[in-house]
Amino acid sequence: MRILVGITGGIAAYKAAEIVREFTEAGHQVRVVATPNALRFIGAATLEALSHNPVSSELYDDIPEVKHVELAHWAEAVLVAPATASFLARTVAGLADDLLGNIILAASCPLVIAPAMHSEMWLNPATKSNVSRLRDRGVTVVDPAVGRLTGSDTGIGRLPDSNQLVEATLAAVGYQDLAGKNVLIVAGGTREYIDPVRFLANRSSGKQGKALVAEAKSRGAKVTLIAANFRHSESDVVTVSVETTAELVSAIDGIDLDFDYVVMPAAVSDFRPESVSSIKIKKSDAVSLTLSMVKNPDVITGLSSLLKARNKTAKIVGFAAETASGRDLVSLATEKRLKKHLDMIVANDVSNGAGFDADTNNVVLIGQNIQLEISGSKRLIASAIFDQLLKLS
Ligand code: CTP
Repeated sequence: MRILVGITGGIAAYKAAEIVREFTEAGHQVRVVATPNALRFIGAATLEALSHNPVSSELYDDIPEVKHVELAHWAEAVLVAPATASFLARTVAGLADDLLGNIILAASCPLVIAPAMHSEMWLNPATKSNVSRLRDRGVTVVDPAVGRLTGSDTGIGRLPDSNQLVEATLAAVGYQDLAGKNVLIVAGGTREYIDPVRFLANRSSGKQGKALVAEAKSRGAKVTLIAANFRHSESDVVTVSVETTAELVSAIDGIDLDFDYVVMPAAVSDFRPESVSSIKIKKSDAVSLTLSMVKNPDVITGLSSLLKARNKTAKIVGFAAETASGRDLVSLATEKRLKKHLDMIVANDVSNGAGFDADTNNVVLIGQNIQLEISGSKRLIASAIFDQLLKLS
């Protein structure tokens, strides 16, 4: 999608860099229009590097191109973040005394405004009235967050997190290609207890799972999350928390399997101790400890068979964590996809721990007629997975 990010002159302008990055990493095109005051708080070079486009600021630059009209027609959504109290007032009045004001008057696409200012200014009757007049006109005004402000004060007025503003913008445009779809995400890493205080675990952080949840939600899906050992709470996401593989199996047994898509980045322990000591194992005089391990069920293979046995049409996506050790990552992952009866597998080379607890990854999406290399944020990977799933259905 083509998104115009407007930035006005407040301290939170530096946070606009993160917003621009999120949009571009999710595959959207971004053009930035910063007011001259915004450029006192953030450098144009940063915004140009992140948006891969020149930053426009002045109304009287590039006159022959009629920039305000060109940008207003180009944009499919305009997000202004941060928006100052003065910007709100000027927008209510329809003032067109700078490039951003002109674009806003000329654009017919959805407009999302994220004000950020000191609490007193936000709560001032003039600002309140401006916000309600903008809302009456169909503008989406995202309420500021509560927290630390510029000085030592705290209160309402902070710019909300960038992902919230990205979601609000996509929602305002109605970019809802997963509306009506039921999605199950199974993420995190299972633990296997040895005794009441010790367990065997793996390095999965749940970050890919959180990115999948955010992406599915922002595109309109109804999301169920099974979270193995990471916290996630959102009122509109049905979340089941599990610790062990056995708990994961019973969580799956306990839910209605009416899903359109199942995506499982979870790192599941392949083995568990044969028995769990009910008391803490004492070291006594022992110089070593041998654990006898038994195999866990392969959860995704079981899930895939269960869906087929119940004639469910869900498309199912697994992840393949490989340390390719001389073999080609794609062929190893393809073998895994076929063995587990999956529609798609996300191949991930985890040599030297790559991909774990990081915000970015480098993967290959593999399906019957799909082989797509993706490198970038976990949100970008989530977005590519759903793009491919929509093409499969
Ligand atoms: N998986 C599963 N149950 C297991 C092990 C893995 O459901 N007991 C799922 C994972 O959630 C992932 C896919 O299977 O979606 C591949 O996991 P991976 O760890 O790469 O493969 P394994 O099947 O464990 O094979 P190996 O460890 O031998 O590579």
